[in-house]
Amino acid sequence: MVIVGDDPASRIYVNNKKKACAECGIYSEEYALPESTTQEELLELIDRLNKKSDISGILVQLPVPEHIDETTIINAINPNKDVDAFHPVNVGKIMVGNFDFVPCTPAGVMELINESGIDVSGKECVVVGRSNIVGKPQAMLLLHKNGTVTICHSRTKDLASHTKNADILVAAVGIPKFITGDMIKPGAVVIDVGINRLENKKLCGDVDFDSAEKIAGAITPVPGGVGPMTIAMLMKNTVRAAVINRTGKQS
Ligand code: GUN
Repeated sequence: MVIVGDDPASRIYVNNKKKACAECGIYSEEYALPESTTQEELLELIDRLNKKSDISGILVQLPVPEHIDETTIINAINPNKDVDAFHPVNVGKIMVGNFDFVPCTPAGVMELINESGIDVSGKECVVVGRSNIVGKPQAMLLLHKNGTVTICHSRTKDLASHTKNADILVAAVGIPKFITGDMIKPGAVVIDVGINRLENKKLCGDVDFDSAEKIAGAITPVPGGVGPMTIAMLMKNTVRAAVINRTGKQS
């Protein structure tokens, strides 16, 4: 795990990931670098970790400081050690449907759906948000399970007309309580990826839970819904990376 600077949210996420590794018996190293770290220095560290045989997975916590180019950093990680699945090689594999690593948050959402006995095939799936980390890969994973997928975003006209059609609704916009009960189809599965901190320091999702739970058939809470799944999927990707790096066997 590599963390650059002292963003408080990133610090919490990295601590949680470190704790999960310890709980699973996964050896981990943390590289906490100062905000002043140059791109060159970060690239040198990634190069070292790429070559280190006792390290199977590399995670650079995002966001990196503004003077560092995120894409250059992601592209420098060995795709076989890219446990976030952010490298273009892994992004491409997800598109094709033949992948080793799945981005942790969308993978966690799929695991929740699957473990809840919900069949995606033929269902109307609406993903609100089009980020590279969540929205886009989430749409592909639902499509691979034969969902009929719509991606909505900040320029979508009449958002509610789309969300009201959703049998499965995934909210990943990063706006607190953006999806309200009146935007949800009765009985729908509502999965809230948002983690927003309110002024009173409380965490809340992208879905207005109080109004949505009255309409939804199933709904995930924030905190405690998708968040823990994300970390569990990171552990799964890390084990997968260890197998790939030791055996050379890929999907
Ligand atoms: N920042 C926010 N979410 C993530 C994530 O899933 N992985 C990394 N590396 N950084 C993040």
